[in-house]
Amino acid sequence: MLNNTRRKLLKLLPFSVAGVLAYPIGKFIFFSENRDKEFQLSLKNIKDGITKIKKHDIFIYKTPDKIEVFNAHCTHMGCILNYYKDKKRFICPCHHSQFTIDGFRIKGPAQRDLDKIAFKIKNKKLFIG
Ligand code: FES
Repeated sequence: MLNNTRRKLLKLLPFSVAGVLAYPIGKFIFFSENRDKEFQLSLKNIKDGITKIKKHDIFIYKTPDKIEVFNAHCTHMGCILNYYKDKKRFICPCHHSQFTIDGFRIKGPAQRDLDKIAFKIKNKKLFIG
């Protein structure tokens, strides 16, 4: 009986390993393409609040005092987040993780804050990447 169960588990092992490896490999292939390239935006085109740059899968959070740039992918399993202006929150459509307007995790299953993306400001332009 026990040997039979072990055999069944051993038969499933390759599928488990494949499942564990599929996520990081898929994430690398499907989600990293747009973020590898550096690009620039004119600061005058970025309004206070949240600006989504769909082409590059990022959100820009701008106030009169600061700017932050976030990866638009949820830190749980990589779904693209939606921003709800009335709630001032990012909410994941996949498993409903929630994040504040400045990227802090409020509610899981995501275990960490949104990923920040490095940028520079030069000559009234925002260089991201
Ligand atoms: S991918 Fe966002 S909560 Fe799961």
